[in-house]
Amino acid sequence: MSLYDLIVSRRTVRRFKQDPIPDEIVTRIMEAARQAPSGANIQPLKYIIVQSPDMCEKVFENTAWAGYLKGEGTPKEGEKPVLYVFLLVDTDIRKDGAEHDCGAAAQNMMLAAWEEGIGSCWIGSLKRDRLKELLGIDDKYKIDTVIAFGYADEKVVSEDAKGDIKYYRDENKVHHVPKRTLDELIIKKV
Ligand SMILES: Cc1cc2nc3c(=O)[nH]c(=O)nc-3n(C[C@H](O)[C@H](O)[C@H](O)COP(=O)(O)O)c2cc1C
Repeated sequence: MSLYDLIVSRRTVRRFKQDPIPDEIVTRIMEAARQAPSGANIQPLKYIIVQSPDMCEKVFENTAWAGYLKGEGTPKEGEKPVLYVFLLVDTDIRKDGAEHDCGAAAQNMMLAAWEEGIGSCWIGSLKRDRLKELLGIDDKYKIDTVIAFGYADEKVVSEDAKGDIKYYRDENKVHHVPKRTLDELIIKKV
């Protein structure tokens, strides 16, 4: 797939096959994060990789999924992610203002994964205090977000939004993501 096709076909996935992700692919995903742009090249981001089934389950318990679907979008047994990557901001390196770095690294990781057929869900709804305790994360690290990964096991499509931007699932369990049209997004061409 071309890079452009990867970008436009990537969708958030919330149902995953249970096949493990090979180490070399995990390394590729992390290398994509490492190569992301960073403001002033400060590189304040650090990562925790969670792959053990036991720890994946504990992390899962501290995440929230697909708010608009009121529970329906939460992965069930046999659909849960097999890998999590925590994006941490090392506040010894940068106190504030790492949000853009996080965004760039996250998108790089999700695209590198998608190239391998691995779906992802970027998760901001987290019980951060509990996760810090669970993983023994030092106070100097701020948990920005977490990305959940696994081989995609659901169909997700984007469509032009007609007013409502809430994603939904149809009767065939296809997940639809309404995207505002370019006519709405581009407010001026000069
Ligand atoms: C910063 C950020 C935080 C997000 N947090 C969550 C989350 O906590 N739980 C979840 O299920 N999805 C989360 N998402 C995924 C969004 O719901 C998803 O990106 C959106 O519905 C658009 O779908 P798409 O990624 O397929 O284009 C998050 C996305 C972003 C960018």
